[in-house]
Amino acid sequence: MKKVRKAVLPVAGFGTRFLPATKSSSKEMLPLVDKPLIHYAVKDAVDAGIEQIIFVTGRGKRAIEDYFDISFELEYHLKFQGKDELIEDIRKISDMADFVYMRQKEPKGLGHAILRAKDVVGDEPFAVILADDVIENDESGTKQLLDVFNRYHCSVVGLEEVPPSDVSKYGIVSGKEIENRVFKLDNFVEKPSPDEALSNMAIIGRYIFTSKIFDEIEKVKPGKKGEIQLTDAILSLSKQEVVYGKIMDGKRFDCGSKDGFLKATVEFALNDNEIKDEFKKYLRKVVEC
Ligand code: UTP
Repeated sequence: MKKVRKAVLPVAGFGTRFLPATKSSSKEMLPLVDKPLIHYAVKDAVDAGIEQIIFVTGRGKRAIEDYFDISFELEYHLKFQGKDELIEDIRKISDMADFVYMRQKEPKGLGHAILRAKDVVGDEPFAVILADDVIENDESGTKQLLDVFNRYHCSVVGLEEVPPSDVSKYGIVSGKEIENRVFKLDNFVEKPSPDEALSNMAIIGRYIFTSKIFDEIEKVKPGKKGEIQLTDAILSLSKQEVVYGKIMDGKRFDCGSKDGFLKATVEFALNDNEIKDEFKKYLRKVVEC
């Protein structure tokens, strides 16, 4: 089996839950303290040994390309100010991986976005990372899935147990536990009502796929809103070859929602050595009022 060297990061959505902020800039550039969400997503991939990042971008996403490029003017300015340490820090960002950009002309769903990367990925297994889901853990989310992939050589999706009231926000799966927190999956439903849910195991934004997923996405019929759902393609993939699910270790923040984004901001600030003491004092004061 070929090694997983590439990761697809779809960033072409409109991010309507963050309007008006996302009217002119990208949701993935919203910062948690001092790094944009997309930085954490790329780091998640790089920490798993991924060498090439394939962004699927859309309108208004130039800031992402600029972020991972060299900024000559900024470096010149910092050099002039004698801030050599900062130059080194920002240079490291463009050296994180090899970056490739594809375009999704219209946001027709996650499945459609991933299909745009088909030619660049070729016939290799690959990772998919959604920058919305930030996972705080010693071992990166992608690395956790890669360990399962390396044992079974089949597609693996990241899972989280969610409260019954939240199942309608996710793709929900069922399956048989074959080792601690690892499941052989047998069914998938996109955003079910609590009564229709197969379980409380939700798919979150980390995946490893064999290249067969592209054939299955191509067969998916658009849903009510014209979107090509990735969950439908995973279901048909599971009928051709085994698909595994792994309940992820660590703390996940749904930064695609205001609530999750704010919780992540607070937690990341409380973990930041430079600001945590002052920030903790401030939070205590605000909460007491
Ligand atoms: P979301 O479902 O969160 O959609 O997409 P969104 O547009 O980003 O945000 P809301 O729901 O309108 O607030 C999950 C991920 O899939 C990407 C998004 O950029 C996000 O990273 N995506 C979604 C695409 O790249 N293309 C699409 O057509 C849809």
